[in-house]
Amino acid sequence: MTAAQEKARAVGAMFDGIAGRYDLLNRLMSAGQDVRWRRIAVATLTRLPAGPLLDTGTGTADLALEMRRQRPDRAVTGFDLSGGMLRAGKDKLAARGEQQVTLVRGDTLRLPFRDGAFAGGATAFTLRNVADLPAALAEIRRVLAPGAPFAILEITRPRGGLLGRAFNLYFQRAVPVFAGLISGRPGAYRYLPESVERFATGDELLAALRAAGFREAKMRRFWPGAVTLHTGRG
Ligand SMILES: C[S@@+](CC[C@H](N)C(=O)[O-])C[C@H]1O[C@@H](n2cnc3c(N)ncnc32)[C@H](O)[C@@H]1O
Repeated sequence: MTAAQEKARAVGAMFDGIAGRYDLLNRLMSAGQDVRWRRIAVATLTRLPAGPLLDTGTGTADLALEMRRQRPDRAVTGFDLSGGMLRAGKDKLAARGEQQVTLVRGDTLRLPFRDGAFAGGATAFTLRNVADLPAALAEIRRVLAPGAPFAILEITRPRGGLLGRAFNLYFQRAVPVFAGLISGRPGAYRYLPESVERFATGDELLAALRAAGFREAKMRRFWPGAVTLHTGRG
């Protein structure tokens, strides 16, 4: 097994373990803001060519459902490593009678879709878990139609200043304790701030997006700069 495959296996197993409480913890940790961030991310998907939308790292399908809410004319494919997260997503889709979201399991580094298959797409809170960021961006761009918009929501390191320091205190000290307790999986919520520390900064992610060939690449920040929305076109 390669290092990337080993990382994917470990990340998938970790998300399997927290799938049952994942949505609740997202709402608690972000004080409900995650719903607004997904709404804003999906609203950037404009000037769509023909075809379906992709949500990679769909987890429990919240972003895919937001795509369907804003773009009922488009089918959505939700793609994820974790069978546990996808099962929770499947139950949610069934409870809402949503039939135009197809869930597929696999690794973003090897998307099982043809070149140019998607009219647009997005990913939320996923790329920092992927073993190779440039390879993931190249693979995502491969499956987008020319000019198709793509949006990336991520937690990145906050800017400095008092608010940034307050965020770090909250995110690195408080979140692992209360989210670890509620989920019963403290390891997963210790991993969360560590994964942000290891990941690209907002500026580095913007540079990586451009280096992967995305056009019109831009970044917007929420909270004290700790949540970023990057957009570009394939
Ligand atoms: C923090 S959750 C985000 C879920 C969802 N996008 C949301 O907005 O709530 C990250 C998801 O990405 C998935 N994931 C992590 N690495 C992945 C990879 N290499 N390929 C596909 N999915 C991946 C995990 O299994 C998990 O469901």
